[in-house]
Amino acid sequence: MKNTVSTLRQQKLDGDKITMLTAYDYSTAKLMDESGVNALLIGDSLGMVMLGYEDTLSVTMEDMIHHTAAVARGAKDALVVADMPFMSYQASVVDGMYNAARFLKETGCAAVKLEGGAEVCELVQKLTQAGIPVVGHIGLTPQSVNQLGGFKVQGKSAEAAQKLLDDARALEQAGAFAIVLECVPEALAAKVTESLKTAATIGIGAGKYCDGQVLVCNDLLGYTDGFCPKFVKRYADLHSEMTAAFKAYAADVK
Ligand code: KIV
Repeated sequence: MKNTVSTLRQQKLDGDKITMLTAYDYSTAKLMDESGVNALLIGDSLGMVMLGYEDTLSVTMEDMIHHTAAVARGAKDALVVADMPFMSYQASVVDGMYNAARFLKETGCAAVKLEGGAEVCELVQKLTQAGIPVVGHIGLTPQSVNQLGGFKVQGKSAEAAQKLLDDARALEQAGAFAIVLECVPEALAAKVTESLKTAATIGIGAGKYCDGQVLVCNDLLGYTDGFCPKFVKRYADLHSEMTAAFKAYAADVK
């Protein structure tokens, strides 16, 4: 079945949890699609897990377009969502409209994701009015890592929790059909989820009460042996398996 903004909305209403994974290339996207994952996000985590940067700030529109088009070619049924990179929408609404439109025109994706709360709502409203579906992203927003002082859990104080709730409601009001909640206490994510009527919450490190979950594919697969957030469940140990295969190949050739 083809996943669309409407089917994801219906999943929220039916209490049918939404599955989302990050994907960066054609072959992996095809496997995820064939496995029935509802939505594939070409996250700007691309910069860290595929391109070797320290954070997501160096990722460009060209990087994102290149990888989003590859993922879209591998996704028959999954909804493909492109992440808008740092400074592709923060300077002006016009920049945001222009760059979001590029994703739809040049890659075949069906929606875009952008970070921020009330401050991006004018853009979210204009995008949805123009027919570009939007996923919001609040809590830990990696593009603001320098302002947040690191990759930390958000919404811990009563004031921060209220702001997160207000931001989620504002994004829903502006037309976002889903909102990623990253590194948010479970009880707060549950409250946000319950208070939203149309926008589905997609949690990452936000507990089990969200309408859906997203993970960085490389973390789930155990691709690297470097840092991995505590909330990630590893479903494979590709790091060991691939290293063993490469060593076996090298030994055979020698
Ligand atoms: O860039 C990314 O992979 C993301 C997810 C962690 C939600 O934004």
